[in-house]
Order: sequence, then structure tokens, then C-alpha cells
Amino acid sequence: MRVVLLGTAAGGGFPQWNCWCPTCRVARSDPSRAHPRTQSSIAVSPDDVRWFLINASPDVREQLPRLPGPRDPVPDGVTRHVPIEAVLLTDAELDHSVGLALLREARALTLYATAATIDVLERDSRLLPTTRAFASVAVREMPEGQPIALVDRAGAASGLTVEAFAVAGDPPRFASTCRPGHTVGLLVRDEAGGGTLAYVPGCGALDAGVERQLRRADAVLFDGTFWRDDELVALGISTSTARAMGHVPIDGPGGSLRIIAALPAATRVYTHINNTNRILLEDSPQRGALSAAGVLVGDDGLAFTV
Ligand code: MLT
Ligand code: MN
Ligand code: ZN
Repeated sequence: MRVVLLGTAAGGGFPQWNCWCPTCRVARSDPSRAHPRTQSSIAVSPDDVRWFLINASPDVREQLPRLPGPRDPVPDGVTRHVPIEAVLLTDAELDHSVGLALLREARALTLYATAATIDVLERDSRLLPTTRAFASVAVREMPEGQPIALVDRAGAASGLTVEAFAVAGDPPRFASTCRPGHTVGLLVRDEAGGGTLAYVPGCGALDAGVERQLRRADAVLFDGTFWRDDELVALGISTSTARAMGHVPIDGPGGSLRIIAALPAATRVYTHINNTNRILLEDSPQRGALSAAGVLVGDDGLAFTV
């Protein structure tokens, strides 16, 4: 299975349009020291031809050209090519779902999400009804703890399966209810190759249940939103801690790094990185600590095979 990181920043991207925190300043003045990043999303493929988009970010239009185009030569008369087979969602947060409406020109889309996420998209953000005004959207519910086959646009099994598992976290602020399954991690497995990827861009606590799921994966992409629990408080940007926002910090008591660094997965990457997080600085001590632990900092365009 091929994995491409299309975007690796948290909501707002990096630098964020209205932010002049120390890291955003470096991204503007010296981008070689802090690479700009688009909002988090990945694509996975069993064959480098059929791609499944996981989370549809507001930056999807500039992200999809990172995937291979239609096989050359494009047959005469072909005027449209949709480069993805389906969209999978971990939650209904705006930075993960606004791209759905931006893909409306596809005419037909397939969406995999949990019942709770589908509910928020239908009733609260109304991204599903809005998208359906332009394209037919086939919705496939992802049950928790049960792998289901990912099907391509032609209706054939792709060879990939996905299994959702619940993680601690807050539902989107605009959600009218808080149903279990509003935020999940995904295990994507290549049935033929045997490789398993864990994608967990938002996670409020790396508890024993989540750790058990991550131990099943050969590659782990995990919530790297904040370095410290009080990161935004210390910068005077917010009064909320990382945990209060549904993101376990990397460092500090109960931080994720100790567990992520000890996972058996050969590839361990932080993604969904907030613009304030000093791991974004190529030469920071925080970056050095991750390097020493063998954990990568996600960068747009990073790709690997699982
Ligand atoms: C989050 O990751 O907590 C949300 O994306 C926050 C937001 O949408 O501003
Ligand atoms: Mn987010
Ligand atoms: Zn910033």
C-alpha cells in the first residue's frame, strides 16, 4: 500500500493567515527553516492507480495534483478524470470535511464515515446536503471494530479494508449531539500485501485502548497538534489547553511521545500539526527530541510504502 501525506498542518494550515506566533513568523521569513504546510489529509492506494482520500481538507484542490494523473495517453474524448475512488473521514471537523463540498464537480462521490460523523455532516454542518445538490453521494457507514472493504469507482474491491476505532476527543463545536464514534482512528489494511496503516489525526488521550490499536499497525500517523498541553495559553492565543481541545500533547506528563516512540511500527509520524508547535522548526530542540526517538514530523508530500 502506498501512502501520500497530502497535508500535515492542523486547521488553519501553516502559516495560519492571521497568526504571527514565533513559528508562523519563521514560516514566512525563512520557509527553509519551517516548511509551509496545508491542512491534514492523506491518500492511500493498493496499486498507485486507485487512491482513497482520507479526510477532505479545505486545501484539497491544491493537494490532489500530488497524486498521479490518469494513465497516459488519456484516451481521446475523455474530458473528466476524478483521481480518487472515495473519501474516508475520521470526524466531521471543518478542516477534515469542508473539502467534500469542494469535490462537488465529481458528479458522484462515495463517502465512508461513522454513523455519528454522517449525522453531523447531514444535520449540523450540512456539508452532505450541500454537496448532494451538485453530486450524488453514496454513504457507507464504517462500523467500529469491524473491517469493511473499500470499493473503487467501478464497484470492484480495491484490496484495502478499513476499520474504525473510537478515540477520546471532543465532537466538533457545531455538533448538536455528542455521539460515540464522532472521532475515530482508522486502520487501513492491504489484504494482499499485509501492511496496516493507522491514521489518527485527532486524539484526546493515548490510552491503553488506542495503544492496542496502534500496536497492530506497520505505520502510524498520529495527532501532533501540540507539543505542550498549555501551548496556546503560554502564547496568549487561547485559554484552552490541548487536552481541552481534544488533542493529547506530544510532551509533558501523559504526553504521546513516550508511547509513540515505543510502538513496533517501522514508520511513526506526527501529523495534524498546529502552527504554534515548535516541531515545525527544522532546527528546534523539540524536532531534535523527535529525531532522537525515531519519530518523523509529517511534511506535505512525504510518501512511503506500507
Ligand atoms: C481540531 O482539530 O480540534 C479542530 O479542527 C479545531 C477547528 O476546527 O478549529
Ligand atoms: Mn483539526
Ligand atoms: Zn502561528
